[in-house]
Amino acid sequence: MNVLAIVGSLRNESLNSCVLETLKERYAPEWSISAADIGSLPFYNQDIELSPPPIVKAFLEQVTEAEAVIIVTPEYNWSIPGVLKNALDWLSRVEKVMVGKPVLIMGASTGMIGTLRAQTHLRQILSSPGLNARVLPPGGNEVLINLADRKCRDGRLINEETLSFLDQVVNRFNNWIKTNKP
Ligand SMILES: Cc1cc2nc3c(=O)[nH]c(=O)nc-3n(C[C@H](O)[C@H](O)[C@H](O)COP(=O)(O)O)c2cc1C
Repeated sequence: MNVLAIVGSLRNESLNSCVLETLKERYAPEWSISAADIGSLPFYNQDIELSPPPIVKAFLEQVTEAEAVIIVTPEYNWSIPGVLKNALDWLSRVEKVMVGKPVLIMGASTGMIGTLRAQTHLRQILSSPGLNARVLPPGGNEVLINLADRKCRDGRLINEETLSFLDQVVNRFNNWIKTNKP
């Protein structure tokens, strides 16, 4: 499956990028994951949404072509990082490329509750009319990687419990996509 990953952190040593790199290796070749470069997107501006710069067009095309989108994000001040909100605002307009798109969300933080507030906010944002994505329902599927600085080493997740939970959620996401066609 052609999967597009959107990471909410731009940091070189990002724990959320550690999660993404782990996903890329662990679920290949079933998942072919490419990552969007949301840090290079300009700030969303309605004045240019009908003729956006090439980097925005390329991002919209990446999302259109993806069979599924994974959002891996830290929590910033009890919400999602601005860079991720900006990317979602671009996706919410004109062609509305996220409508009906299967989405899996996950997040890693150094805190105790592992991005719970950010993910709750993110689900609300993804439900807005401009995005209206098909997000894997939360019951049993919330990937909240807390104390993540202890669970990543050399850019990969090493915590067996977390890896085994990821296996279950990824498996449920794959089945859910197959059985819940719009
Ligand atoms: C601006 C900022 C705000 C943060 N706010 C929160 C927060 O609200 N909740 C939380 O659990 N961690 C918060 N953190 C700590 C992050 O969980 C931690 O920095 C994490 O490593 C960020 O993800 P990354 O490693 O992928 O960059 C914040 C960090 C920054 C830089």
